[in-house]
Amino acid sequence: MTDKEEAVRFEDMRMMAEEEANACVWEQIAQDKLRAIPSLYRGGFKTLVKAHPRLKNMAAICLAWANGFTAKSPTRGLYLHGPVGSGKTGLIYGIAISLIKRHISVVTWPVPELLKAIQTTWHSDAEPTEYEILYEATEADLLILDDIGAESPSVWALQTLGQIVNRRYADEKTMIATSNLTLQKLTGRSNDLSAQRIGSRCCEMLADLPVPAVHLRGTQKEKP
Ligand SMILES: Nc1ncnc2c1ncn2[C@@H]1O[C@H](COP(=O)(O)OP(=O)(O)O)[C@@H](O)[C@H]1O
Ligand SMILES: [Mg+2]
Repeated sequence: MTDKEEAVRFEDMRMMAEEEANACVWEQIAQDKLRAIPSLYRGGFKTLVKAHPRLKNMAAICLAWANGFTAKSPTRGLYLHGPVGSGKTGLIYGIAISLIKRHISVVTWPVPELLKAIQTTWHSDAEPTEYEILYEATEADLLILDDIGAESPSVWALQTLGQIVNRRYADEKTMIATSNLTLQKLTGRSNDLSAQRIGSRCCEMLADLPVPAVHLRGTQKEKP
């Protein structure tokens, strides 16, 4: 083997080792993210549909959406709305799990918790910082906002949420939101300009997906 061939072979091996190391790191991040999912929802679509077969069609729609998602091209997001206990959070965690397994960066926040987490950073040397929370929420390939509209509609809360939604809108980054409110009610819930802007951005970015109004929480396992 000539020196040149030897050098090419060495470079190929180095690149393969680097790819393997990267794959290990991504897999570790994915496993950590899966472990961080609340235990009730960790089984994803499989346990959701097993417990509530009437959500089979909704789960199929959400899974098809997840399968069609790539981080590279902008995808129209989803707006799942329905009453409390209809399965919205179960469905969005189903999507999150399937994307995390594909090593896509997904950040999921119940909106009231997101705002509380940001406030917590003001009073201590807390980790993560406010900047880190906002950065992660705006930069992730997919941001899932659970229970939008359930936050207290203070000027600060609406401006902060508006800033995140607006940034993703401007960067053409995909978002999913769930709510007890229809898009129309979300947009018209307040005269506040930020609230109206959040609603209007959601109307443009997200496909309306009503979740059947059946209260599943506390019900016995349904028959298939
Ligand atoms: N992944 C899952 N596996 C099993 N059951 C689930 C799962 N996700 C949700 N559920 C069930 O569906 C019920 C309602 O779901 P949830 O998604 O919390 O409703 P919503 O977000 O609409 O208020 C829960 O009480 C739980 O029993
Ligand atoms: Mg919920």
